[in-house]
Amino acid sequence: MQAINSSPQWQDRRQIGDAVLYLGDCSVILPTLPRVDAVITDPPYGISITKSNRLAVSRGMGGGDWDDAAPDADLIAQVVSKGDKAILWGGNYFGLPAARCFLIWDKQNEGRDFADIEMAWTNIDAVARIFRMRPMNMDGGKQHPTQKPIKLMTWCIDQTDASPVILDPFMGSGSTGVAATQMGRKFIGIEREPKYFEIACRRIEDAQRQESLFEPEAPKAEQTALFGSEVA
Ligand SMILES: C[S@@+](CC[C@H](N)C(=O)[O-])C[C@H]1O[C@@H](n2cnc3c(N)ncnc32)[C@H](O)[C@@H]1O
Repeated sequence: MQAINSSPQWQDRRQIGDAVLYLGDCSVILPTLPRVDAVITDPPYGISITKSNRLAVSRGMGGGDWDDAAPDADLIAQVVSKGDKAILWGGNYFGLPAARCFLIWDKQNEGRDFADIEMAWTNIDAVARIFRMRPMNMDGGKQHPTQKPIKLMTWCIDQTDASPVILDPFMGSGSTGVAATQMGRKFIGIEREPKYFEIACRRIEDAQRQESLFEPEAPKAEQTALFGSEVA
């Protein structure tokens, strides 16, 4: 992991393989970044200050220290315009335009007291889709009060076809970045809470390490007998 000194826009910036992670406020950092192929993100909805935040605090998973205020309309517009394609979880909260391709996460909740589904708004020209998975099947344990499963984020990246560069400006514990790394995509992430920024750095670094374990060995340079058999 390569740490780079801070700038007026961000407090920390780390390069981890093909991922670049910023610690800071995305409303200040986004204008400094290039446009990307796909923005896939999960902004705070402004509601988990209530139930799931209290539950997270009671289970010692953080949350009490976390400002859950939803981004304003200008920031949401800035986020959406940063990618050719955009997927925003909680997209039913932000007053976004009508969309054809909503993505639904069916939590197979079976009437427990949390919501049965979550919805992502997209600007993708395709039919709506459903992904079914229980939240408790969370890979590697839960490290953020509203952490998304990596399999869900992998599915989201698949919906953007072959987008090579993925941006998540509300990165939290870095689930989008882990999925992008596992899929061999470049990733840019922004998180303003130092605690979750560090967790994201560690998770993406671990994913990077796992990937390099499975990478095929580079072919060994062959020594060609330039003159060998021809000399006779
Ligand atoms: C809903 S959580 C994302 C959780 C993430 N999907 C995961 O799997 O861990 C939203 C995150 O956005 C961060 N955040 C909120 N406003 C922000 C801002 N203006 N700039 C950067 N990060 C922000 C919060 O600290 C929080 O960690």
